[in-house]
Amino acid sequence: MVELAFSILAADFTHLADEIARAERGGGTIVHVDVMDGHFVPNITFGPPVVEAVRKVTKLPLDCHLMIENPDEFIPEFARAGADMISVQWEACPHLNRTLQHIADHGVLAGVVINPATPVDFLVEVLPMVHHVLVMSVNPGFGGQKFLPRSVERIAHLRRLRHEMGLNFRIEVDGGVADDTVESVVRAGADMLVAGSAIFAGGKAEENAREFLRIARAATAVSV
Ligand code: DX5
Ligand code: ZN
Repeated sequence: MVELAFSILAADFTHLADEIARAERGGGTIVHVDVMDGHFVPNITFGPPVVEAVRKVTKLPLDCHLMIENPDEFIPEFARAGADMISVQWEACPHLNRTLQHIADHGVLAGVVINPATPVDFLVEVLPMVHHVLVMSVNPGFGGQKFLPRSVERIAHLRRLRHEMGLNFRIEVDGGVADDTVESVVRAGADMLVAGSAIFAGGKAEENAREFLRIARAATAVSV
């Protein structure tokens, strides 16, 4: 099932609970939380206190995308704050196997993220231990960037690997996913669709989410 993971980075923070409620009414089923530390990426966003606050205003699963250095240090805190899923950047984790195990040990679904310049094949050793793989379709750090077209082939490649290895992790895509790009990523095999600016634009998260999902669900994945 194709799901919308709406990124609250693009929401109106002064009315965050209302924004989340609107995106949920429009069909969004996952809250995507972009955590940035000003080191791994050139931007700072929010940390565990915001996750804890969001946890109180929605029952939807919280998907925490950690764009931070030393994620191991913070995993327990995000887990305590209410994260249901935590994904870490391949590029930030010299001991990725241990980091993913660390996430799972906290009762949280573990994911790995790859930047546009990281080959998909570098993931082979950890694919059996992840719940989801997040393919970045922009360079992380900011919302509202342009979708990188090569991401489509990268998703398709990952989907072929999943098939060949007999696994069933989910494929998530993040960055520049909007009404004009969502069909191509769904056809390639993505089923967790992160979208921020496409959803929260104009304070119309409900309408935007509904239209986004209509387009996404009209597209089906092509066979492997
Ligand atoms: C980028 C973040 C994204 C971002 C997506 O570093 O990981 O989740 O919020 O925003 P849009 O949908 O505006 O590209
Ligand atoms: Zn993200």
